[in-house]
Amino acid sequence: MFSILLLAGLAQLVASAHFNDFVECGPLDTACECAVDATVCTFQLHVEYAFTLTRYNFSLPYLQGQGEHVYIDKTGNFVATNGRGKCNEGTFIKRAGTSEDLYCNENGVCVEKNKLCTEPITVDGKTLRIFIAVNKQFPGPTLIVHEGQIVAVDVHNNLSTEGISIHWHGQHQIKTNFMDGVGLVTQCPIQPGSSFRYIFKAGPSGTFWYHSQMGSQRANSLFGALIVREKQINYPISFIDYPASHTITVMDWYQQDPEEFFRHIKFGMGWIVDLPPFTAPSDLDPSNGYNLTRGPDNVDIGTNPFWSALIHGKGRHPDVAYERSRLQIYEVEPNSIYRFRLIHTGTMYAFRFSIDGHKLKVMATDGYLVAPVEVDYIALHGGERYDFLLETNQGDGNFWIRAETFEIDFESSPNPPYSFIDHKAEAILHYSETDPPKSTEYASIPSTPKQCTQEAPCKMLNCPFENFHPSYNIECIGIDTMKLVESTPEGEMPDETPDVTYFMNMAAFVAHYKPISSINDKNFRFPSHPLTTRYEQNDRSLFCEVDSICESEGGCECTTVMDIGDNVTVRLVISTVGEERNSTHSIHIHGHSVHVLKVGYGQYSSENGSLLSSSRDLTCRDDGDDTDILDDIRCPKPRFRPPGIKFPLDKFTVRKDTFIVPAGGYVVVQFRSNNPGYWFVQCLVQLYYREGMSMIINEAVEKAKKPPKQMEYCDSFIWDIHDFMDDRSGDGYTAMPPFFSILLIELMMALSVL
Ligand SMILES: *[C@@H]1O[C@H](CO)[C@@H](O)[C@H](O)[C@H]1NC(C)=O
Ligand SMILES: *[C@@H]1O[C@H](CO)[C@@H](O)[C@H](O)[C@H]1NC(C)=O
Ligand SMILES: *[C@@H]1O[C@H](CO)[C@@H](O)[C@H](O)[C@H]1NC(C)=O
Ligand SMILES: *[C@@H]1O[C@H](CO)[C@@H](O)[C@H](O)[C@H]1NC(C)=O
Ligand SMILES: *[C@@H]1O[C@H](CO)[C@@H](O)[C@H](O)[C@H]1NC(C)=O
Ligand SMILES: *[C@@H]1O[C@H](CO)[C@@H](O)[C@H](O)[C@H]1NC(C)=O
Repeated sequence: MFSILLLAGLAQLVASAHFNDFVECGPLDTACECAVDATVCTFQLHVEYAFTLTRYNFSLPYLQGQGEHVYIDKTGNFVATNGRGKCNEGTFIKRAGTSEDLYCNENGVCVEKNKLCTEPITVDGKTLRIFIAVNKQFPGPTLIVHEGQIVAVDVHNNLSTEGISIHWHGQHQIKTNFMDGVGLVTQCPIQPGSSFRYIFKAGPSGTFWYHSQMGSQRANSLFGALIVREKQINYPISFIDYPASHTITVMDWYQQDPEEFFRHIKFGMGWIVDLPPFTAPSDLDPSNGYNLTRGPDNVDIGTNPFWSALIHGKGRHPDVAYERSRLQIYEVEPNSIYRFRLIHTGTMYAFRFSIDGHKLKVMATDGYLVAPVEVDYIALHGGERYDFLLETNQGDGNFWIRAETFEIDFESSPNPPYSFIDHKAEAILHYSETDPPKSTEYASIPSTPKQCTQEAPCKMLNCPFENFHPSYNIECIGIDTMKLVESTPEGEMPDETPDVTYFMNMAAFVAHYKPISSINDKNFRFPSHPLTTRYEQNDRSLFCEVDSICESEGGCECTTVMDIGDNVTVRLVISTVGEERNSTHSIHIHGHSVHVLKVGYGQYSSENGSLLSSSRDLTCRDDGDDTDILDDIRCPKPRFRPPGIKFPLDKFTVRKDTFIVPAGGYVVVQFRSNNPGYWFVQCLVQLYYREGMSMIINEAVEKAKKPPKQMEYCDSFIWDIHDFMDDRSGDGYTAMPPFFSILLIELMMALSVL
């Protein structure tokens, strides 16, 4: 009898330890990892407003919680500006020899981990404003799970006025379309004060991120990294993989609240440079209106003035001295090879990413391993991810990590090579033979930017144009030249010849036209009820098809839905041609990783590299090839000019879920429709997204798994994990881990013997 009890106890223990891992993820945990042998990983994400440059004392009950604004003084220390004494005992660190949860400061004052004050979110060292914190952090904690695990994330909306929804960017959500997190498309927004449990199976593996899909919240820092570790990895190079400490998010950052900011741009109000925020312009100001900035191809990039940029939530506004900043430090040991994971979580600007003294060996993108491509720079656009290997072969010391914009100063350099405007985010690569640098030591870190010469040209992956002017000595490598390491499985492989082809032309922002930011001339309008749960309640007269022609002079606003069948090969030709070709777009397709067959470019001036006209591969008229007309019109219905133009595809063609469409150019992508549901397609440049550059793919939705009934009611919904499993039985989800079942069988056998 005793042994049976023991066995039963053991079974219970094993079950609780391995079936569901309730991952602790508190305010000081910047990364939270699920146990490798867990079947289910449960996380809690608390979403609330917080201030930058502020620390909070949460040893007090929630309603009595206190905080104090801080600044960084010239000795690099935090100083409280008000409410002195609330957190005033300096920095707490875990002391050797103390228990796991005890943290002490220089004066020997010790507190338990859960009673510490939060680390101030320093952003650029200058901007004091409200932002959206996830578990009191920015970025939100990096969630780390393993391929095939069931991920359950309880999202608690503690904002007082806004609904939220969390998209798991790049996760396929097979049979869980309604967990894709697109508010008003796949679910009701999570209301203020409500909670919602996302449950999905982790896949594919690789580097992903989660972010709000509602309004401007993503730009207000409602995001974090999501890492899905591979079950096993077969890569020609072996490496060390520490996603908790080697994940790099890059973003541009503004002093205004993003919604205020968006309203300002959308209505074309312009900007007075150097005017303090919250100050009305007057006749006393110098009339220095902001002029759009442009890239080396003369294409618009800075529709709004750059303010600052952050690497993993930290950076330095140009006004702030190094010692008064906090930068993100990435630690490595010498003579090793590390995997780093790079994610663009920003809103407007693309970045040229590089690390002084080191080459970057790109090994994966958007969750798919690629044959190594060695470059000096990675051009990173909204929502894209690149994993690269870094060989720590530079002995010792500190090296600058740079993410610089593509903006050119045409005034001071009228001929190519034009000089770049110095707009950047910085972080530090630290070889950990010595202590990590303090902020007072940042300024003395040597600056050794890339030297690109004719003899030793530099390489850049994923340029937003075909090439730099030759005077730059930078070669561009297109993403369509990358090759997968593992061949695409049969069931996911599209045919080379598509069953259906759709053309989608992205147009943005020529002032005299409306609507701005459209796909095929149509501005996306969110449905008033989510399609997955309350389709019937929608006014269907507001829906439109992707290739319908907008007849109205004033432009059309509608819910664009593209209907595709089950198990067909779909080709999308996504372009930015016609008169409104003057910007580059970063396009994300939900629910799929598409094969990128071709990136096509416009025509450039050989004199100076400027974009002169759109790609000659496309025409904007049904009736054929009127060459001169291509750039005159908005191109609501592009077609290939040479009929029967071929795009090769094989099992190693690169797959991505987010890719750029170069100004004046196009991208051909292909996928097999094997994942029924409503999948959102969107531009990741926040301005264009908010203005309506998105649409919905209805992929054989009649075959999609139905959402749980309770999702129709739009209130708090914490789906019981066992109900989820029961609902999925037969879909390859096992309600119990196999070893638990074995124990159970043993237990029953033991019982029967008795
Ligand atoms: C937080 O506030 C409480 C109450 O005022 C105080 O006892 C505690 O020391 C503070 N915690 C820190 C880390 O300063
Ligand atoms: C969210 O708000 C509720 C009450 O409105 C509170 O009980 C809870 O502690 C809050 N959570 C966080 C993380 O602030
Ligand atoms: C914008 O361009 C105009 C015309 O070239 C120039 O006069 C003005 O100074 C520029 N404004 C700024 C802020 O550079
Ligand atoms: C999809 O179609 C292909 C042929 O185009 C066929 O071989 C395959 O079995 C189909 N898959 C499913 C799941 O129906
Ligand atoms: C693109 O923008 C630049 C700068 O704003 C301008 O010089 C150029 O004419 C524009 N091109 C088109 C096609 O509108
Ligand atoms: C670049 O050269 C073209 C002629 O090839 C010219 O029309 C254009 O104005 C030039 N652009 C710049 C930015 O100098």
